[in-house]
Amino acid sequence: MRDILVEYINWRRQLELALRNSRTSNPTRLGSVDGIVFTGMGGSGIVGDVLAEYLKEVTELPVAVVKSYRLPRYVRRGWLAVAISYSGNTLETLNAAREALRRGSSVAVIASGGRLLELAKELRLPYVAVEPGLLPRVAFPSLLVGASVLLRDLLDLELELSEGLRVLEDLEGVLKLSERLAAFLRGAIPVFVATEELYPLALRAKNEFNENAKVVCKVEVIPEWGHNDIVGWEGASGVFKVVVFRYGSNELTDFAARYIARLGHEVEVVDVSRGGYIESILYGSWVVGLASVILGRSLGVDPSETRSIGVYKEFLAKVLPP
Ligand code: F6R
Repeated sequence: MRDILVEYINWRRQLELALRNSRTSNPTRLGSVDGIVFTGMGGSGIVGDVLAEYLKEVTELPVAVVKSYRLPRYVRRGWLAVAISYSGNTLETLNAAREALRRGSSVAVIASGGRLLELAKELRLPYVAVEPGLLPRVAFPSLLVGASVLLRDLLDLELELSEGLRVLEDLEGVLKLSERLAAFLRGAIPVFVATEELYPLALRAKNEFNENAKVVCKVEVIPEWGHNDIVGWEGASGVFKVVVFRYGSNELTDFAARYIARLGHEVEVVDVSRGGYIESILYGSWVVGLASVILGRSLGVDPSETRSIGVYKEFLAKVLPP
């Protein structure tokens, strides 16, 4: 069994290497673009969610996230499509990248290998080749750095990652928190609740518990949560346990945690504030990555194995037109 707990534990080292080694090949300064679309799936696609949320406060450009083999019509010449696939072989991402090229958009690539990287080399597209040999979800720090290097070199957009190494320093503290979280969620259906700003982290948490612990989870986003899901808790049974993510002080977050608890459900608040936004997401991702592996191990499953994703990918290859 591959020990991915150690690979998560080594995130600081992974980040350090990525910060030192990542560079853009075939760099092209684009100056201005009409919009940016991040396209990718699963552990690679989550990077797009994080960046799109961050960029809302940093640029006036429209920023879209596409997790599909189709691109919306508004992505056309003048747009930058950033295709992210750790393996470089994910069909949805390859299709979206090819479609962007057909429409005359600029395309940039982040991958560790595969057909996407080949395409980038062949067409001399800007790309960042990230460290190979990891599982996509474990490669999150490298993918984040890859994206930050691309955005800096192509569009002059700087991402806050300078404190990244510091937030990954407290291994003892993070392991303690992750063990507590894993014990809390054992035997339950985890429900991750966060404000829109922290949605990428709540989604990341769901994906990590899906893949590493093999459990079904649910994500709820505030403020929409207050317009529907809140009512569900009036009648919910005890199978759910709630994790509310907090970033800075947010009255709505605290209200949601209090309200769900008042209706008789178990709620744990995890404060991920560690300086800037990206660094806080990185820290929160570290916590949920470790917690999901610890839970998976305690349930007797192999956290590294994602057999069903393989089954889905094989099926997709048969039905998706080339
Ligand atoms: C596996 C994982 C998956 C993959 C997804 C897309 O660790 O996290 O969610 O990320 O199947 O594959 P890639 O990332 O290779 O494009």
